Amino acid sequence: MSRLGIDDERIASAARRVMARCDELAKVSAKPDAIERVYLSREHAHANRLVAAWMRETGMSTWQDAAGNQIGRIRIGPGSAEPDDAPALILGSHLDTVSDGGRYDGMLGVLMAIEVVRLLAAPGAATLPFAIEVIAFWDEEGTRFGKALLGSSAVAGTWQDDWWSLTDAEGTTLREAFVDFGLDPAQVGDAARRPGEIVGYLEAHIEQGPQLDRSREALAVVSSIAGARRFELVVEGEARHAGGTPYDARRDALLGAGEAALAVERVCRAQHHIIGTVGRFEAFPGGINVVPGEVRFTLDLRGELDPARDEVWERLACEFDAIAGRRGLRWSAREIHDAAAVRCAPLLQDVVGAGIQAATGARTDPIRLFSPAGHDGMAMSAIADVGMLFLRNADGISHHPAESVQRGDVARGIRALAESVLHLAAEPVRVGGRR
Ligand code: GLV
Ligand code: MN
Ligand code: MN
Repeated sequence: MSRLGIDDERIASAARRVMARCDELAKVSAKPDAIERVYLSREHAHANRLVAAWMRETGMSTWQDAAGNQIGRIRIGPGSAEPDDAPALILGSHLDTVSDGGRYDGMLGVLMAIEVVRLLAAPGAATLPFAIEVIAFWDEEGTRFGKALLGSSAVAGTWQDDWWSLTDAEGTTLREAFVDFGLDPAQVGDAARRPGEIVGYLEAHIEQGPQLDRSREALAVVSSIAGARRFELVVEGEARHAGGTPYDARRDALLGAGEAALAVERVCRAQHHIIGTVGRFEAFPGGINVVPGEVRFTLDLRGELDPARDEVWERLACEFDAIAGRRGLRWSAREIHDAAAVRCAPLLQDVVGAGIQAATGARTDPIRLFSPAGHDGMAMSAIADVGMLFLRNADGISHHPAESVQRGDVARGIRALAESVLHLAAEPVRVGGRR
């Protein structure tokens, strides 16, 4: 059932604006020929200024919070000029990118949310029993400091003091980067929101996998989000002469780490919905004629169910012990990120489903997908019910410059998200998370 009396031409123009603004944000990059926008950088400040101006254009009041997230807020409907302490429905996603990333992962959800506000705030379009806030989060990816979901963790009030000593590739600590950006580490707690202030969290995002493309469907309801752990591993052997060292005298860290990476693939492939990726792999000292004495590599391990994912980690640790034992190596791991799997709230799954049906005219239930990719909703689930809408992206390619989305799907997605908000508005207002 459609609750949104807005014609297709206005939705199409909203989708055109979203596509153009994704292109505009793509130019805000640390690299001239690639997209890279990381937390607490010059590009972070620049993107926040652009997005804040786009938020204000729709009537939102705006501020940057104590963790650098950009926020816009609006009351929609009669009485919207009165003092505003209403609980808010938060629509959001992130503005940071991986290195050499695409232009839609994150940004699309922020820009779609701004267009949903524009549509709903048009005279006579809607009266909402809650405020709407759009949050453009920072550091969903963890590109700069390894730890993901920093901005959304600040909003959820789950920021941990031991994160301050995380360092980037230049050795700058998170604390130093905060100060350089003009933020006060002592104030980060001010970004935290209370469950009683929030009606729910809704996010639109490209799927980052091929299920929708393969089923020739534009939109899906997300049922749950994978829990993820990230590790930095070190394998130590002995650096020696590449010519003079017989094989039986070698303690080659690269070969041991290579076997470990293959073990990750073998063990994870044998499990349902557990995915392991070695994304960075560096050998030292790195001489062409030197047996590698040390290798540092990363492991990203995620799964639909946390206990199954954790069992895989235990199993991998045994495999790494065996490899190290056979090759005379030592290995160690430092865990730099741990986020639990999250089930999207049944009510929000239903309103997103109703939104999709209203937007597409489908009579059957929309597809429900588990998300192996991480999202800000994982952190937000500590204080709010979470719902997500997925949009098809061609071939499911993401974290890559070829990432794409069709303008027609964006139009459907904007309508579906606006309809979801109206369907939620028809429910009794409930605040708080983890129901
Ligand atoms: C973020 O996109 C992640 O899933 O790591
Ligand atoms: Mn991403
Ligand atoms: Mn993302």
